[in-house]
Amino acid sequence: MLSQKTIDIIKSTVPVLEVHGTTITTVFYKNLFEAHPELLNIFNHTNQKKGRQQNALANTVLAAAKYIDQLETILPVVKQIAQKHRSLIVKPEHYPIVGEYLLAAIKEVLGDAATEEILQAWGDAYGVIADVFINMEKEMYDQASNQNGGWTDFKPFTVIKKVRESEVITSFYLKPADGEAVPSYLPGQYLTVRIEIQGEQYLFNRQYSLSDAPGKEYFRISVKKEKTQVSPDGRVSNHLHDAIQVGDSIEATVPAGDFTLDLKKQSPIVFLSGGVGITPFMSMMHSLADLQSERDVQLVHACENGAVQPFREELAGLSQKLVNYQLSYVFKNPSKEDQDLPNYEKQGYMDVELLSNHIKADADYYVCGPVPFMKTIITHLKELGVDSEKIHYEFFGPAMAL
Ligand SMILES: Cc1cc2nc3c(=O)[nH]c(=O)nc-3n(C[C@H](O)[C@H](O)[C@H](O)COP(=O)(O)OP(=O)(O)OC[C@H]3O[C@@H](n4cnc5c(N)ncnc54)[C@H](O)[C@@H]3O)c2cc1C
Ligand code: HEM
Repeated sequence: MLSQKTIDIIKSTVPVLEVHGTTITTVFYKNLFEAHPELLNIFNHTNQKKGRQQNALANTVLAAAKYIDQLETILPVVKQIAQKHRSLIVKPEHYPIVGEYLLAAIKEVLGDAATEEILQAWGDAYGVIADVFINMEKEMYDQASNQNGGWTDFKPFTVIKKVRESEVITSFYLKPADGEAVPSYLPGQYLTVRIEIQGEQYLFNRQYSLSDAPGKEYFRISVKKEKTQVSPDGRVSNHLHDAIQVGDSIEATVPAGDFTLDLKKQSPIVFLSGGVGITPFMSMMHSLADLQSERDVQLVHACENGAVQPFREELAGLSQKLVNYQLSYVFKNPSKEDQDLPNYEKQGYMDVELLSNHIKADADYYVCGPVPFMKTIITHLKELGVDSEKIHYEFFGPAMAL
């Protein structure tokens, strides 16, 4: 337990630290990786370069500090982060290392303003916050390894099938190399894939949503090849597309994540996806189809055009099992052929007018796609009167404030 004095010190220094939040975590990561380069086998280097991870950690430490005397308030956030940590095999012994460098960064950035008393208070508070994570993660690790087909850490999978879903998206079917069963998971969960790229010093970890229903003899992930004119090629997605073939091995962790569909509910569901953000919904919709669900299910999918759009046949096939099912496509640059598709709804973007056609009383809305897409859709849903509690979303990267 923290003393009232410690709590007071923490709360009074949060505003100062908020001003320097990102500077502190930038210093923190630089020093951390200099002293512990082995951690570069865990962290996503691109998220580091783009600053997304720094913001995520800074925001969370400060949010936790703000609520230090009522940490239960932020438990849902802790749970989501703990899922990510669990999927990346963050271990209890990592916490003191992170704590040491975080405290040193606070000291470096605040200079003389960081008195011994303040540093002591932050050290104590970090210990309390870290314990919350460690305990929650322990439960998750136990659950992951104790289930049927479960395991600890990473284990090798063999790619048994590689299917081109569109010009940019390819599915990989993964089977445990040790011949063990594939554990069940919740529709919407992801796993972390870890790969070694020749010539690279460190390992690469990336999360991929499972894109099929649980209960199969494989995990299916569907990966977009990240290639643009304006930034460096995505490292892992290009490697998977170009170098990984059937018969090759990649490592993965037990599925994790709290962006899941409650299959017991009966409320209408509206899935709103942009680009490859459709993958968790494939798992959710296949799960509903396996149950021959009578729920009202709508998917509105936005992407550039039919050439990059994945799963078109699979989506159409779902109507055999889902009786109340509606499918709509929004294309930014549709071809003539795209415009003739039965499910073609509109050229352009998913705007407020289009969304107003998909509002249903008591529905749950699931949103996944690029960050600007999510920002727009969630803002529009709120404008249309949808309650925040009914809006569920997943970032394909470190979570951000919307
Ligand atoms: C929970 C979750 C689920 C996910 N599910 C899926 C899924 O189902 N399918 C899927 O395809 N992806 C999914 N992702 C995203 C996936 O984890 C990877 O982030 C994605 O494949 C890109 O990885 P990469 O190594 O190819 O690209 P990276 O090398 O990580 O690059 C990412 C992007 O940043 C750009 N970039 C690289 N370096 C820089 C730089 N220095 N400055 C600016 N921009 C730069 C790249 O061009 C690229 O567009 C998911 C992510 C999460 C967190
Ligand atoms: C109390 C301490 C910690 C806090 C508050 C914290 C917070 C966070 C947050 C907010 C994220 C982003 C989650 C998301 O939205 O995806 C994250 C991700 C991550 N954390 Fe932590 N973390 C802590 C400790 C640790 C430790 C000890 C390690 C291990 C060295 C670690 C490794 C990671 C990694 C590897 C990621 C994913 C990074 C990425 O994909 O860019 N964290 N953490």
